[in-house]
Amino acid sequence: MKPAIQVHDIIKSYKDVKAVRSISLEIARGEYMALLGPNGAGKTTIMEMIEGIQKPDTGEILINGLEWQGNEKRLHRILGISLQETRFIDKLNVRETLALFASFYKLPRSRISTILDMVNLENKSTAYTENLSGGQRQRLALGIALLNQPEILLLDEPTTGLDPSARREVWNILMDLKENGETTMILTTHYMEEASYLCDRIVIIDHGKVLARGTLDELLTKYSAGEIIEFSVGGTFTEADFPAKQNIIKIKFDQNTSKWSLVVQDLVEYLPKLQHEFETKNVYLTSLECRKMTLDDLFIQMTGRRLDE
Ligand SMILES: Nc1ncnc2c1ncn2[C@@H]1O[C@H](COP(=O)(O)OP(=O)(O)O)[C@@H](O)[C@H]1O
Ligand SMILES: [Mg+2]
Repeated sequence: MKPAIQVHDIIKSYKDVKAVRSISLEIARGEYMALLGPNGAGKTTIMEMIEGIQKPDTGEILINGLEWQGNEKRLHRILGISLQETRFIDKLNVRETLALFASFYKLPRSRISTILDMVNLENKSTAYTENLSGGQRQRLALGIALLNQPEILLLDEPTTGLDPSARREVWNILMDLKENGETTMILTTHYMEEASYLCDRIVIIDHGKVLARGTLDELLTKYSAGEIIEFSVGGTFTEADFPAKQNIIKIKFDQNTSKWSLVVQDLVEYLPKLQHEFETKNVYLTSLECRKMTLDDLFIQMTGRRLDE
């Protein structure tokens, strides 16, 4: 069977900004894939090219083996799209908004009730869209994307700005859909947790390029040989004071928080050595946190920046 989406070496510039430098992606049927990257990474530009809203300068995009040119109608029938920012008509209520979009696809009215139920907006069906909360707006946008029972969902930052419980509601809807195995999805996000919870594969993007890709486990195994110790101390302790430097992958001191952050090969082996050094130098711990590397840490290691910056 053909992959649901094939992106071959696409490039896109806006005047002097190289938004997408050379990206290739392949998404299998039934797969959920995350494009994970900070603001300005090029996520929306990539999505809009897949959605047929923009054309790449060079490169090729195939959806179910079809290019956009000449197949617009067919592709619109199988795609469900939610843009990074959805503008609704303020003077329509939730049900009327869905009815308007349903009329584009000539869907039966019963589909609207099904969607209201799916995205948990039944009790808001008569509310004007201008009075919806952020989470409700995002769920309405998702409901519109789901109206035509799309094979392929393309969601641009569906949970950005939502509080954790509203985000969780969107996740639940997407996980329910995943169960039937018939929906393919690309979602963009700068939440590491979202990418790892929802998606089979993660593509980390920055400056219009792929930095890394794989399943969460593959990414963590391949790129993050290490565990993290974060601590702060009372007394004098400098970089020169760290013992067994051959076991340290990275040392950083954050001036703002006065915290040391250490990446070591083996936490259990290193921690006693550090503690011993503290004792000989008369230094005492004021905070200590030990953890495995996350994708956020990985991203910082790769780019020197945080995902949510
Ligand atoms: N219409 C546009 N005109 C000029 N530059 C743009 C336009 N859209 C996006 N860009 C630039 O392209 C880069 C990628 O943007 P975008 O695809 O929106 O990234 P993301 O969605 O990851 O935040 C950024 O540097 C952005 O400023
Ligand atoms: Mg964007």
